[in-house]
Amino acid sequence: MKEIIEKLRQSFIGDLAKADSSAQVNELRISYLGKKGSVTDLLKQLKDIKGSEKKTVAEGINALKSFVESEIAAKTALIAKREEDAAIEATERYDVTMPSAERLGSLHPVTIIQREVEEIFESMGFTIEDYSEIVTDYQCFESLNIPKHHPARDMQDTYYIENGQLLKTHTSAAQNAIMRKYGAPLRAVFPSRCFRNEATDASHENTFFQMEGIMIDENISISNLIYFMKSMLSEVFRKDINVRLRPGFFPFVEPGFELDISCLICGGDGCPTCKQSGWLELCPCGMIHPNVLTAGGIDTEKYTGFAFGLGLTRLVMMKYGIKDIRMLNSGSLDALSQFTSK
Ligand code: PHE
Repeated sequence: MKEIIEKLRQSFIGDLAKADSSAQVNELRISYLGKKGSVTDLLKQLKDIKGSEKKTVAEGINALKSFVESEIAAKTALIAKREEDAAIEATERYDVTMPSAERLGSLHPVTIIQREVEEIFESMGFTIEDYSEIVTDYQCFESLNIPKHHPARDMQDTYYIENGQLLKTHTSAAQNAIMRKYGAPLRAVFPSRCFRNEATDASHENTFFQMEGIMIDENISISNLIYFMKSMLSEVFRKDINVRLRPGFFPFVEPGFELDISCLICGGDGCPTCKQSGWLELCPCGMIHPNVLTAGGIDTEKYTGFAFGLGLTRLVMMKYGIKDIRMLNSGSLDALSQFTSK
């Protein structure tokens, strides 16, 4: 029996050396270890062996079986690696660092302006905050002094989720969380996509961008607000921009304003763009209402602050002379790839 085992072992070594593909190795595995394989056959013969010899023979066959198994596994791995290398060699190779021959992507005009405005505010000591587009009723309305059934909600119908949360209608929705996160004093801007249930036309979209800014400290007044807005706008448009405030109502500011800028087209003389008034409406703002500061955990005896809600989409349209807001969400590469920063 010992000789038979040894012979089988030698013939396996010979066969294995000849096997050159994973298919051939697999055939070999079947012919030695399969149900009718020669090693399996030997194991079957064990039952005919009697007495003390049985144990030694069994050990011999099992050793052969393990040997065949491990040799086949090793050869299979070797061939798999070789076959993989050959497949890689055969396919086309890409140099991922090569400049594309296709048209390169470009930044969306809103992204360009958003980054520019962020940089300007950062240089004036503001932190840039990010905040969820899905918010609670409390964040979007209640904490902003807009209780349930307040008429101000009529202007901001939006998309509701079954759990009662909603898509934010304005960036002011993040004020409360940011005040709670940092406390006072605080300077922060927080851009976001906003949503309203709106019939779309050339100047209305259901999806648009705003950038909110708040500054809270001791002795903050409207003059601080005017200073920061004027500096930022003059940077964005690269020329001196005059601003004026008109009264405006928002429940979360008191007093509240609409900030207008001198018309970019005529410089203030009056033209069709500014409807002959010399002014363009750009940014609602005001002094943060004490109820809103209190809801944000800020001591109203010590601190005051301003807030503004810059219409980022509107600013982009003004800066680039875009006439139809729908172009911005159109996904049209021909339209969108025309924009570059500065
Ligand atoms: N959140 C207001 C809106 O979108 C704008 C606003 C922001 C007004 C901050 C005042 C202060 O209508």
